[in-house]
Amino acid sequence: MAETIAAQENQEHAVIYLPPPKLDGRISFEKVLAMRRSIREYSSEPLTLNELSQLLWATYGVTEPKHGFKTTPSAGATFPLVIYVIVKPNSVRTSNGFLDPGSYRYDPYTHSILLVKRGNLIRELYKACLRQAWVLRAPVNIIIAAIYERTTGYYGERGRRYVIMEVGHASQNLYLQATALGLGTVAVGAFKDEQVKSIAGLRTDEEPLYVMPVGKPTRRYSLKEKDLLEYIEENRRLYQP
Ligand SMILES: Cc1cc2nc3c(=O)[nH]c(=O)nc-3n(C[C@H](O)[C@H](O)[C@H](O)COP(=O)(O)O)c2cc1C
Repeated sequence: MAETIAAQENQEHAVIYLPPPKLDGRISFEKVLAMRRSIREYSSEPLTLNELSQLLWATYGVTEPKHGFKTTPSAGATFPLVIYVIVKPNSVRTSNGFLDPGSYRYDPYTHSILLVKRGNLIRELYKACLRQAWVLRAPVNIIIAAIYERTTGYYGERGRRYVIMEVGHASQNLYLQATALGLGTVAVGAFKDEQVKSIAGLRTDEEPLYVMPVGKPTRRYSLKEKDLLEYIEENRRLYQP
């Protein structure tokens, strides 16, 4: 029901208001950490709009409404990151069908996505990512980009380092949220910057830093406590100070 109300599309501006993110989940934080792996094989199952909403919020959504602070820390609260999502045809289920394929820009403040480029962009993105098959197979690819100037404007050259650190935070948030939802992702850093930028319709001052395919894993990873303890014991035997 929430999805029906929240997923209304304003056709004129092609804005999708996402369902509200959930602030609770079913798996403990420790289990999520233990289960996180880079996942590169996905089933053909689409995601739901609720899942996409949750993934985007976890990556870079607002957690402190007074100042608009987010799920990541940010040097000087400059928040240089911009999140895009590349949607394949029939890959994100809504209450009345599927999201149109294309590239969408996430707005954390209204928790909405704006269609910036319509069409099936996935083959081009796959080629720009050096033909990594997981990019092609995933129902969505979340791109984490940065506007360096937001942070270098305050910190000069050192701001570049801060931006790259922040991307790591956002990427890990996405990994962990995907895991908690029973989904899988992988941080892809190997791609042709200019091509990804043009395919996804990034603005001139936005630089892509990660492409993260997300889908339903064909296999889940799990860690047994016994195996971890044996591993630690074995290493203590091998590497005594
Ligand atoms: C900066 C960075 C770039 C990466 N680039 C790629 C990539 O282009 N393609 C890919 O399949 N995995 C990529 N990875 C994922 C690593 O291969 C993966 O994290 C590593 O093998 C450890 O596996 P785990 O994530 O399951 O612990 C990247 C990871 C990082 C941190």
